[in-house]
Amino acid sequence: MKIAIIYSLPTRRALASPFLATDEDTKESADEVAEALVLKGVTVVLLPISEDTIDQIRNIRADVIFNLLEWDGLDGSLLVRAMEALDATGIAYTGSSNAALAVCNDKSRMKAAMEAAGLPTPRWQKFETGNESVRDDFVYPAIVKLGLQHCSVGLTKDAVVKNADELIRVTNDRMQTFKQSVYVEEFIVGREFQVTIIQKKNGLAVLHPAEILFTTQGTGAFLTYGSRWDETHADYKESSVRLAHLSLSFLEKINRISHKAFIDMGFADYSRLDIRTRDDEVFILEANANPGLGDSDDYGMTVSYKAAGMTFADFIREIVESCLRRSTSVR
Ligand SMILES: Nc1ncnc2c1ncn2[C@@H]1O[C@H](COP(=O)(O)OP(=O)(O)OP(=O)(O)O)[C@@H](O)[C@H]1O
Ligand SMILES: [Mg+2]
Repeated sequence: MKIAIIYSLPTRRALASPFLATDEDTKESADEVAEALVLKGVTVVLLPISEDTIDQIRNIRADVIFNLLEWDGLDGSLLVRAMEALDATGIAYTGSSNAALAVCNDKSRMKAAMEAAGLPTPRWQKFETGNESVRDDFVYPAIVKLGLQHCSVGLTKDAVVKNADELIRVTNDRMQTFKQSVYVEEFIVGREFQVTIIQKKNGLAVLHPAEILFTTQGTGAFLTYGSRWDETHADYKESSVRLAHLSLSFLEKINRISHKAFIDMGFADYSRLDIRTRDDEVFILEANANPGLGDSDDYGMTVSYKAAGMTFADFIREIVESCLRRSTSVR
């Protein structure tokens, strides 16, 4: 079997951005997926895709395409074009469809989709002009998040606001600095988990959640950009990951919600939910259609597939097998 792994190169916009690190790790991820597939006896070809070479996707000849295109919402139109090219090949490709990826790349669309499906997610509001009046049923603290970027870009400790005045000041600051819409969400003080979901032969498997543990507490305990990406930042490594300790009944509740989210969001093969819990309430912060892949004990996903007895190569093979099952069932 021959698998073509396509992965996105940083765009010219990203190359000029101070947050380049978040786009540079895609190549590393592609190399790790290639290695995993070779271990499983597959012939692989790695195809980096830039904003200038999107049309090359149309010429791919392979049995399966492993899709690691990770352009964010600011480059969302490129991702849509690349996904159209992928669809035009007629070759089975891993992960979610163009439509599902486009929803998740625009966080307001993602939030609206979760709400429409009745999935639990923190109360929120979108801001795009600065003239919006703040909804008066917000319970503070709240957190100001960017509408079109991922990887905690724009999340510093002062993204958490205590009242409407602060909310207006920070949303205006973020809109001006990052040139995009923002959204505000109630800040959930509680525990944080990452839930990995994978489509297996006998059904959807919600893997045991990984918990993010913080060295701080309260409104300072969350994944800021500095804590994840900037070794020189005071927040760096404020968090660590371990397998979650949960009661059976709460685990079942998380599983039920995660299963429903995967189906309702139209995901395929694999996904990851970022969730927070407060007492026995569950809130989905983010539904990741094609989450980043890599074999590192720092990743919640790794902790979860290892607990299920899988290696990274096993996990990658499951994704490919699910993709092949989908393509044969469509034909
Ligand atoms: N409503 C909230 N309450 C508490 N913490 C939050 C909330 N929203 C976001 N956070 C914190 O910010 C982090 C990043 O938020 P989120 O996962 O929504 O966006 P992201 O930057 O796109 O993430 P990713 O890198 O996973 O794509 C979360 O992991 C969490 O620590
Ligand atoms: Mg997230």
